[in-house]
Amino acid sequence: MIKKVGKIKNLKGEIIIPADKSVSHRAIMFSSIANGKAKISNFSSGADCWSTLNLFKNLGVEINVIDKKTIEIFSNGKLIKSDLPLDAGNSGTTMRLVSGILAGQNFDSVLIGDVSLSKRPMRRIIEPLALMGAEIESENGHAPLVIKGKSLYGIDYFSKLSSAQVKSCVLLAGANPTTKGKTTYIEPAVSRNHTELMLKYLGANIEMDGNKTIISASELIAKDIEIIGDNSSAAFLIVAGLIVEGSDFVIKNVGINPTRTGIIDIVKRMKGDIEIYNEREFAGELVADIRVRYSDSLVSCEIFGEDIPRLIDELPIIAVLASQADGETIVRDAGDLRNKEADRISCLVKELRKIGVDIDELEDGFVVKGKTKLKGNAELEVYHDHRLAMSFYIAGLICDNEISIKDFEWTNISFPEFEMLVENLK
Ligand code: S3P
Repeated sequence: MIKKVGKIKNLKGEIIIPADKSVSHRAIMFSSIANGKAKISNFSSGADCWSTLNLFKNLGVEINVIDKKTIEIFSNGKLIKSDLPLDAGNSGTTMRLVSGILAGQNFDSVLIGDVSLSKRPMRRIIEPLALMGAEIESENGHAPLVIKGKSLYGIDYFSKLSSAQVKSCVLLAGANPTTKGKTTYIEPAVSRNHTELMLKYLGANIEMDGNKTIISASELIAKDIEIIGDNSSAAFLIVAGLIVEGSDFVIKNVGINPTRTGIIDIVKRMKGDIEIYNEREFAGELVADIRVRYSDSLVSCEIFGEDIPRLIDELPIIAVLASQADGETIVRDAGDLRNKEADRISCLVKELRKIGVDIDELEDGFVVKGKTKLKGNAELEVYHDHRLAMSFYIAGLICDNEISIKDFEWTNISFPEFEMLVENLK
């Protein structure tokens, strides 16, 4: 589907941000391996989370969809072998976390994904799982993954990457009730900790201390989970509020877990007008409401090191924001962006240049020279990548001429309500 986007002004009003994708995945996975009944409310409508839901149905878990946002799960904590391959769709989170769960089962499984997911690196999980005694065959480090269930043992693992997917995979293998011994996981900088918080909420034997987590065999007890709003989805609207002239609106129910709020810190560093208030807690996770206003004196900043895991998914929309800030914004230490749904460095640079953004590619990031008038008048590709599609749409709102975005339906992967919410603010 081709989407045409043109210049607008004055986004106003109040919207509620839909459910967090990372937390929705984990709610299905962890309730499926916990004992008892769980009601999950405010579940994500993103296709990725439904890939996870269907995958666990295929592993014999009783999952009832009460309505689109309310899911009930009944489990005795045990999974059953699937005779069919398990399909993770476009979702790296599904494939990598589920591998950690399946590696320690007493049956074999095959995990598959779509074209984009089948190109993404899986050695990052195969290697630590192999150290724990797992047996996984892959196509040169890529899906399909054939996982031969084994009994596992705990390891001390120092990861070179700050990746929540790798960390969660190893912690889930370590938490398997049959795994022997403790698993200690250390990462260079703290990545999102939704796995740790939810496992703790469900009674796992887990201790967290900065970038170090220790876990051992755990019997999880199911509990109701209300999903917080997605901070990464909110990021697109935050940037729209800052760059669309005359805007002033409120985004309610946004997750503000400190391992995810890099975008808010960057907006503050860039002197954007943003206010966070009404903080509260759902199932161990913090949420708040956010007021954002048009800011015509944004300044550039440097983003690197420990900033990166706290805003990894927000870097494409930060590039759009940087195009409107005075000075040169430099992003470094973000080479893993090349391993996302697309190579988010080269695809971002190629497409944003078409509409007039002054952006250059670095091996591990990019440089944007700001205060640029965006001309638009171009057709942009999204490379199977939902976050590129939404970033381009927001850029289109400030282009002098209309832009066209091809295959815009990829936004359904994480945020099907995206365009409707922008419309609600018009
Ligand atoms: C995610 C972790 C991040 C992020 C992805 C979701 C998660 O990936 O980019 O969208 O839910 O754990 P990495 O762990 O590969 O950085």
